[in-house]
Amino acid sequence: MGRQELGVITIDQAMTSVVLGIGTAVPEKILTNIELESMVDTTEEWILSRTGIEERRIAACAQATSDLALSASKAALEQGGISADQLDLILVATVTPDMIFPSTACILQRALGAVNAGAFDLSAGCTGFVYALTVAEQFLASGKCRYVLIAAAETLSRITNYEDRNTCILFGDGAGAVVLGRGSKPYGIISAYLGADGNGESLLYVPAGGSRLPASPQTVADNLHYIHMQGNEVFKFAVSVIPECIDRVLNQSGMAMEDVDHFVFHQANRRILQTAVKRLGISWEKVIVNLERYGNVSAASIPLALGEAVEDGRIKEGDLIMMVAFGAGLTMGAVLMRWGGAGND
Ligand code: ACO
Repeated sequence: MGRQELGVITIDQAMTSVVLGIGTAVPEKILTNIELESMVDTTEEWILSRTGIEERRIAACAQATSDLALSASKAALEQGGISADQLDLILVATVTPDMIFPSTACILQRALGAVNAGAFDLSAGCTGFVYALTVAEQFLASGKCRYVLIAAAETLSRITNYEDRNTCILFGDGAGAVVLGRGSKPYGIISAYLGADGNGESLLYVPAGGSRLPASPQTVADNLHYIHMQGNEVFKFAVSVIPECIDRVLNQSGMAMEDVDHFVFHQANRRILQTAVKRLGISWEKVIVNLERYGNVSAASIPLALGEAVEDGRIKEGDLIMMVAFGAGLTMGAVLMRWGGAGND
């Protein structure tokens, strides 16, 4: 394999981008389906049968997205044995930043004391973590960075209308973080695909608060600062793009569906996952699911599910993992990764 000088690090084409450490964080407060029954016109049975969600976490008043990102990031750094000042780059994937600016990544950079890191936010809806993994992989592969932190964190409760039964039953708060560094084949990121279809802008969006429709007393009165969603359209989009994303990533890698040990899909709705599993002809046993406890946590949902599955031993060193996400934008993407390889730098 050839070697070349790029940026500050000598890179080797046999090198890959591996996860050195992973961490998760969720708020303490639980919002159950029974509690939602007293808030909107819904039933515990409807929510469970239509979504598979039993409960979700809600951030405390003083808890912002960066606070959840910080907890998850500290855990990831500790597991990876990496100190904050070793980080070259921090990416925060979120649709619920602490504020419009500065970026939540800069707020996290200061809180961690990551004095040598550049930092920026990445907005790709629920596909944010998959997008961020792909971006981080490029910085590592080019030799521009040795260590990159991704924090995918959301406080969706802050933009959820708890008078709208179509949306308030779905969303929750939480965070997942990974520290990536260089490793060796066969471990690490193998292939990735990112896609978007901006025609779906108004299927899932927050109408007000940006430059198109700045926040005003009227936008607040009209509830335009909350999530608006055409759920059944998003559902159709999700089940159609999941197989497409997987095909593209498998084709690039030369691997087959049966080689994959675990599928970690964006945790939006159990029925979306069931439909995808049926279309793909894969075993449900291979699907990592935790949406019953957290609902849809947007960008945070994949690292949260991944982190729990690593923690409880379902995902082991050497396992082949397919991560697939879809979300606001509309966006979609997938990353194929062989778990493990930390310490091979
Ligand atoms: N309780 C009781 N009834 C409800 C509720 C509720 N909480 N919500 C909707 N309904 C009603 C509707 O009003 C409708 O009644 P109607 O027939 O009298 O008009 C009926 O249930 C059916 O509504 P649908 O929207 O067709 O229900 P569906 O089976 O599609 O389920 C759901 C809705 C759960 C939202 C589903 O479409 C879904 O999960 N879609 C995907 C959403 C998603 O994943 N969004 C996030 C994407 S990721 C991101 O980027 C944030």
